[in-house]
Amino acid sequence: MPKITINPDKIEFNVTTDEIVLNAGLAQKLNLPHACKNGVCGACKSKLIAGEVTLEAYNQRTLTPDDIKQGYTLLCKAHAQTDLVFDIPNVLDGFPVKIMASKVLSVNKIHNTAVITLKLPVALGFGFHAGQYIEIMFKGKARSYSIASSPVTPDEIELHTKYHKGGEFSEYVWNELQDDALVRFKGPLGAFKLQKSEQPMLLVCTGTGFAPVKSIIESLYLNNDKREIHLYWGNREIKDFYLMDFLDKWRHKLNIKITLCLSQEKHEKYFAGYVTEALKNDFDKLKNYDMYACGNPRMIEDAFELATEKLALDKDRFFSDAFTPAVK
Ligand code: FES
Repeated sequence: MPKITINPDKIEFNVTTDEIVLNAGLAQKLNLPHACKNGVCGACKSKLIAGEVTLEAYNQRTLTPDDIKQGYTLLCKAHAQTDLVFDIPNVLDGFPVKIMASKVLSVNKIHNTAVITLKLPVALGFGFHAGQYIEIMFKGKARSYSIASSPVTPDEIELHTKYHKGGEFSEYVWNELQDDALVRFKGPLGAFKLQKSEQPMLLVCTGTGFAPVKSIIESLYLNNDKREIHLYWGNREIKDFYLMDFLDKWRHKLNIKITLCLSQEKHEKYFAGYVTEALKNDFDKLKNYDMYACGNPRMIEDAFELATEKLALDKDRFFSDAFTPAVK
């Protein structure tokens, strides 16, 4: 059975050749970087120092031939063929993943988005990084939701979910979920999080991709962080935007420029088009920026391509929360 070693912390565990390396590591409760688990977001891209892997199908843009030449691989697609040694910093620097029961404090429906607030038992000490997500357990299945509130108030967490007609969980939230209901979840999960950096940041999101972005910006707001922030939020129609009072609050205290984009409606106060078009309109170069992209997987791919191939963003400074996009 191949042995996996993770440097610099010298963590070791075994894996069968049938197992995906990421899954084996997560089963050991290690804080291995990941988000989509599907070879698309690049969050799990890690440096393999020694050993051989075979990879299941993945998005070729996520792991390029050049990345492979430099020794990178995708943990979420890798099977070990020999003992492996990886260089992955901060594997022990995460919050423990817990399975918890929480109470619904409120369900606030704003047009087609529900803002759900959960109250967590303080004694169980739930902690997370801004940008991470949880998995709600519902009828034997797990559904991923980014935490929209800030880690500064970890005993209450907020989730945003969009209504999808006929969707089992959507119908439950819209028609049955009430205050005081019990919700079980697992978390915190995912490597997508606010990075320690002083570089200006671009946050690009669509729909309820706003949730992790809100968590990140709220954290900056509550920590009085003065870094330069550009927020691009895209929706089809004006009524799809929600929690706009937060945007007003941030404008007053943060060094933030906010661009709201409408893809199917026109209004003088909004950019007409996709978030990536607005970005292209506003920037010639993104060197020395940090970019966070959340929401529609297609938008994330387009934003990655635009930023890294045309606007000189350093690939290592692109962070995304893609959950379950299809592999090309
Ligand atoms: S590419 Fe591996 S977790 Fe997204």
